[in-house]
Parts: sequence; structure tokens; C-alpha cells
Amino acid sequence: MALIGIDLGTSGTKTVLFDENGRVLASHTAEYPLSQPKNGWAEQDPHDWWRAVQETVQAVLAKSGVDPADIRGVGLSGQMHGLVMLDAQGHVMRPAILWCDGRTQGECDEITETLGREKLLAITANPALPGFTAGKILWVRKHEPELWEKCRHILLPKDYIRYKLTGEFATEVSDASGMNLLDVPKRQWSGEVLAALDIDPGLLGRMYESCEVTGAVTSAAAEATGLAPGTIVVGGAGDNAAAAIGTGVVEAGKAFTTLGTSGVIFAHADSVTIDPRGRVHTFCSAVPGKWTVMSCTLAAGLSLQWFRNQFCAAEREAAQAMGTDPYELMTAEARRSPIGANRLLYLPYLMGERSPLLDSDARGAFVGLSAIHTRCDLIRAVMEGVAYSQRQCLDVFREMGVDVSDMAACGGGARSPFWRQMLSDLYGCPVKTIASDQGPALGTAILAGVGAGVYGSVAEGCAAAVRAGARQEPDPEAGARYEPFYQLYRGVYPALRESFHTLAGL
Ligand code: XUL
Repeated sequence: MALIGIDLGTSGTKTVLFDENGRVLASHTAEYPLSQPKNGWAEQDPHDWWRAVQETVQAVLAKSGVDPADIRGVGLSGQMHGLVMLDAQGHVMRPAILWCDGRTQGECDEITETLGREKLLAITANPALPGFTAGKILWVRKHEPELWEKCRHILLPKDYIRYKLTGEFATEVSDASGMNLLDVPKRQWSGEVLAALDIDPGLLGRMYESCEVTGAVTSAAAEATGLAPGTIVVGGAGDNAAAAIGTGVVEAGKAFTTLGTSGVIFAHADSVTIDPRGRVHTFCSAVPGKWTVMSCTLAAGLSLQWFRNQFCAAEREAAQAMGTDPYELMTAEARRSPIGANRLLYLPYLMGERSPLLDSDARGAFVGLSAIHTRCDLIRAVMEGVAYSQRQCLDVFREMGVDVSDMAACGGGARSPFWRQMLSDLYGCPVKTIASDQGPALGTAILAGVGAGVYGSVAEGCAAAVRAGARQEPDPEAGARYEPFYQLYRGVYPALRESFHTLAGL
């Protein structure tokens, strides 16, 4: 018995074959390019995704030797928000416009004006954001009307793969939440929003819960991938919602922090809670009838990576000679600086910011630099600044009444026990790791298991397949020492905001 999880990421597709206990039988990743035809634009060719899916599915079947007939179900997860347009023949009409494409601020303003900010927030649970899909639809309609005329299907990235596998035009609630078109409390397309934006509901896929069966592998897709015809494909989930399942975040109190390029906090919520100021996103959960709250800061791991690349040539050389990771040497240096980094603060807004500050003109800063500071202090300040930015997001969750007491840490940055302890001290709650780091692929394979009847519920699937790793407890004394620095950090952005905006205009 096996389950397969296909995670369509931005840098590549990772396909993993699991047994029912979440053990990896085989895993394979295939990469593809991202094109930036203009500054701030980001596109990918959906044909590359389908090629990567075929290659990775064939590879895990070959590596594992598993009989395709023993695969009980396929789960899909992937990058959210991207716009895929198909014509009447089901052919891709243009490159997909991705989540990280920033061309649609004008269309977002238009959406907000048409619906009114409050109504939009009440229905779609989020403000109109340039990353989200609706603005991209309006952009194509305005700038490429001849293409728009011929468009018959609008799909999210992973739902295009579903179409290729099953021939069905379908989506599910967690990913659809990131389109600004879903009635998030009601978990169905919003007729009101679609009418106001003049978007034909017939263009959109049929809506499912994440663990429902949406179709079965066709004989053509079986031929292309090596899967058995008739293998079921469940709804699956957006990458963060799938990662939540893969880390066991399926009940109130549970959350995870990802320190990847960006920093994400993702918490489960039993009811719909919407931040009236739009500082964090509210989405449908991949757990039927539940919701999630998510923050996304744009330069978490990226801050440390930037510092490594620009200022840590010595560490990089030494690490190479020692056969170790430069981040380990940098972390050892950071440990030599005290809490507060000898009175040095860092703002991590290298790419502007999305949570909890919506400001694309915000920029990074070191505040309080002195001639006494060493590289140790600067590295520690960067790590602390990123941790403060996560705590500031968590404060919004707590303000909204979203309970967060059981936190898992994932992503490259979470491999550092030092950084995890910093998060634990600042959050005031334990921070644990997850034994397997297959987050989204495992999560969506669990959803496939629920759809196939292998597990009775998502929670049962998590209990069978997700295992926690090391756990760190908060140190209240360290927490108290961080607190005044954190409070000061919160005040620095408001003090600099006007300067950032002026700087952006120079
Ligand atoms: C979520 C988001 C990203 C993408 C790409 O809102 O923009 O996490 O899903 O991974």
C-alpha cells in the first residue's frame, strides 16, 4: 500500500511516495526555470510543471519498485495564487502569472474600489493583494483582451496538474482561498464578488474539500506517468495548508513557523477569524470545515542568506575547508553576542513587507550601529530581527484570539537549534521540530489517504504518519531580556516609514 504526494513548488516539483506510516519509499525532484520578463514580474510555463510531474512520478516508481496498482491515491499541493489560462481545447494560452509577481497593484486598487474594502474582507477574508489571483485575471483582461476573449478555464497551478491527470476542471477550498474570489466563510465561489468583477463563474473549477476525490487518472495520463489508470486524485491543498497537515497542525492551539526564504506562521483555527486590518491571511483549512490564519514575511532566511553572501566570505571559505555549512559558523559567532546584540536592532524588510506590515516600499535597516560592534553582533542582530518579525505576526494571531501554544518549526532556518530557541523564548511557548521534513508532500499524501479510505480522518492520518522531533522549552529569563528590545523593534518601522517612502521615490 502506498500514497503519493506531488508538491509543485516554485523552484521545482517534488514527488514523494510514502507508506501508510509516513515513511518515505522514494522521492524525486525536478527543477524548472522562472522567468522575469520585466522587473517585478514572475512567470512559469505550465508545460514545464507537467513535464516535471511526469519525470518525478516515473522516477519514484522506478526507485521504489512499488507496483502502481498498490498506490491508493494521489495528492497534489503547490505554490498558491498563480493564474493558468486554458482555451476551449484545454491548451495553455500564456505563461502562468505567479504568486510572487507584483504587476497588479492597480487592479487590486480597482477591486477594492468596486467591492469596498470591508465587503471584500468579509467575503474573501483578505484584502485585494497583488500576489492573489483576481488581480492577475483583471490584468490579462485589460492588457491582453484578444487572449482573454478565448479563455475558457482558469486554474491554479496544482489544479492544472489535476486536469492533466484526470481531465477534470476542479479545485479545493484551501488553494482557492488565495484567489480573492472565494467566500471563505461559506467555502464556495462568491457569486457577489464574481458578478461585481464581471468574471464568468463557468471559467472556474468545481469546488471540493481537500480530502475529497476529484477524479481518477485517465489512460492517457497513466501512459505519461506510469500511474495505474483509475488511481484516485484528491483535492489536495495549497503548499502551506498541505505543510500544516504534514506537520500535524490540524487542531486548535497548533501552528508551525517556516524559516525559509520567507517566514511563515500558519495556525489552525476552528472558526473563521479575520483581521480587520488585513495584516495576516485567513484561508480555508485542508481539514474539512476548519480555517487557518497565516502570516508571510518576505525576507526571513533571505536576510541571513543576504548577510552570508555579502559579508561572510571568511566563513564561507572556512566552512568549505572544514566540510561544514557556513551557517553553522555564523551561528557560532552569533552565540558570542549577548541577547540584544550589544544594543543593535535589525529590520528584515529587504523585499518590502507583507505581514504584518503591508508596505512594499519598506526596507531593511541596522539601527544603533556602534564602533564596538563586531560581525558576531551583526549576525545575531539579523537572526533576532527575523525572530522579532515572526513574534510581531504571532502577536496579531493572539490579538485575533487564535490560540497558539504548540509550535513546530520547519524550513532551512529551523535546522538551527539556536534560532529555534530564540523563537521559543520570544513566543513564550515550546518549539519542536518534525522528524521528517516532507511537509507539503506528506500532507497531501495524507489527504489522499483520507480520500482513499486508508485513514478515517485527517487527524487519524496525521497520528499515523507525522512524528515530532526535538522540542525546546521557552526560557522565561531570556524572554524577559528580549522583551525591551522587541518592544523597541516594533517602534522603529513606524518611525522610519516616511523615510522609506521618500527613499523609494528618489
Ligand atoms: C502563500 C504564498 C506562498 C506561495 C508559494 O500565500 O504566497 O507561500 O504559496 O509557495
